[in-house]
Amino acid sequence: MQGIAASARKAGQVIALVPTMGYLHAGHASLMREGRRRGDLLVVSIFVNPTQFGVGEDFAAYPRDLQRDMQVAAEAGVDIIFAPKAPDIYPSGYQTYLDVEQLTLPLCGAKRPGHFRGVTTVVTKLFNIVMPQLALFGKKDFQQLAAIRRMTADLNMPVEIVGMPIVREADGLAMSSRNAYLTTAERATALCLSRGLRAARLAYQAGETKVTALRENVMAIIGAEKAVAIEYVEFRQQHSLVEVAHAASDTLLALAVKIGNTRLIDNCVLGEEN
Ligand code: PAJ
Repeated sequence: MQGIAASARKAGQVIALVPTMGYLHAGHASLMREGRRRGDLLVVSIFVNPTQFGVGEDFAAYPRDLQRDMQVAAEAGVDIIFAPKAPDIYPSGYQTYLDVEQLTLPLCGAKRPGHFRGVTTVVTKLFNIVMPQLALFGKKDFQQLAAIRRMTADLNMPVEIVGMPIVREADGLAMSSRNAYLTTAERATALCLSRGLRAARLAYQAGETKVTALRENVMAIIGAEKAVAIEYVEFRQQHSLVEVAHAASDTLLALAVKIGNTRLIDNCVLGEEN
């Protein structure tokens, strides 16, 4: 892969990378289409990265279907699928990791210790292997995008990070490979996330800025679902991820819940459409 990338660069091509863990859906495809538009050589990586899964998380169960993924990627105009095996990325003796400090402490970082260390480490390795000029990430994983932006700036990585809007099902559920875990009943329950976000955004647009009040709006909707265990409902400044008491147009509302055994996240920026 590195050899191909070096040749492409020598030929003056712009390499665009879409890092994924596979089981591709329309959210991934939107990143690929933008990558196709902006790059000459479009690479999608498919790698279920063991170092970003905690003990007792779903690494072994994570859905995998390379045949289907190849079809989705082909339809989006992908030139190369880079799908390494775990020992190629982490050979025995591997011991180097990368940590973005403050930004990874709250939200998912607090609930999933070591998760972002695994993400930033594998993304750095993918950047070194694929040598892209630009890489595309979804706002669905808002904190991940923030950490990757910070990392590339802090370490002078010559990669432009492109953040892409959340792609949703027609009924509002944010697309996720993990939606495949949901039973029919859980799938219906999962709509409370997007409904909660929408309620808070409407209340904000109607003039409510007290976070305590906005939070109550969300809790009334999600908390009413018996099958849902809330991990967090938080309001934070979208760039620093510092908690706020008063909402503004740049306030991120981030949610994480568990429905049965499935952990789902969603978010919105109060002043933005998506
Ligand atoms: P994965 O969950 O497969 O997601 C790959 C990329 O697709 C991420 O940038 C994610 O934010 C984006 N994405 C997922 N669902 C989306 C949606 N509904 N709308 C828009 N974009 C969406 O995120 C990872 O993999 C991994 O942590 C990775 C970055 C590949 C490192 O292992």
